[in-house]
Amino acid sequence: MPAGHAEGMETEVRRRLEARGREWPAPIQWLPTVGSTNDFLKDRAREGAPGWSAVVAERQTGGRGRRGRPWLSPPSNLFLSLLLRPELPAGSAGLLPLAAGVAAADAAREWGVEARLKWPNDVLVRDRKLGGVLVEATTAAEGLDAVVVGVGVNLSLDPAAAPPALRGTITSVRAENGLAPGPAVAAAAVLDRLAVWYDALARDGPPAVLAAWRARSVPWWGRAVEARSGDAVLRGIARDLDGRGALILDLADGSRRVVLSGEVRELRLET
Ligand code: BTN
Repeated sequence: MPAGHAEGMETEVRRRLEARGREWPAPIQWLPTVGSTNDFLKDRAREGAPGWSAVVAERQTGGRGRRGRPWLSPPSNLFLSLLLRPELPAGSAGLLPLAAGVAAADAAREWGVEARLKWPNDVLVRDRKLGGVLVEATTAAEGLDAVVVGVGVNLSLDPAAAPPALRGTITSVRAENGLAPGPAVAAAAVLDRLAVWYDALARDGPPAVLAAWRARSVPWWGRAVEARSGDAVLRGIARDLDGRGALILDLADGSRRVVLSGEVRELRLET
């Protein structure tokens, strides 16, 4: 890799942000390779890095997904982490994972892909995964100290070349519409939209983000789903999100349950 490549890419991300009307207020670091951008940025957070510091990697050797799953991280895709030091009331800070999903879906739509969100923040095209969000928080004595928002989007990945276990479950921007932005363009778009939705949370609280999330969600309301949260498995009808972004389910016994974290899948009737 030529000397100065990383600096050039950092400048490119900043230039793209400026073209979108946004002067980025903190360091943006470009790494040819890293274990996980989230882990890297959590280390920087412990060393005192300022809020809005961002890291973009060309590839990850230990990319992590939610629930401890590995995240496929070959070059030409987006691996981005953003450090927030949120000055938000607790009720709004809890919405950051949903806000990040909205931001990723917005960016995908800029690239011509009709991305939808599956609770809490899987970015899907039809039933295939285009991207995902991993939000990790650290707390200090005074409360929330740092939040690292990790976003991965498959840009140029060839789904047919993915490991067998993932085939048929993932897609990419290029697979959907034949072309894809490079990681620097994609990073600027996602950072810009993350700032938009953070500002919306800070200004208006949860309602705007909840409405944006619902508007981009898979059309599962009123349908049977299975939610897994820790060891619990709940089957019911998906009704809505509550004011904290938790999933509201109506169970077959007539009770209503609220799922704060976990995974959900649609239950399709066998025909
Ligand atoms: C998911 O399981 O859907 C979340 C995937 C999050 C992947 C991104 S890639 C950038 C950041 N670094 C990581 O190790 N993970 C997140």
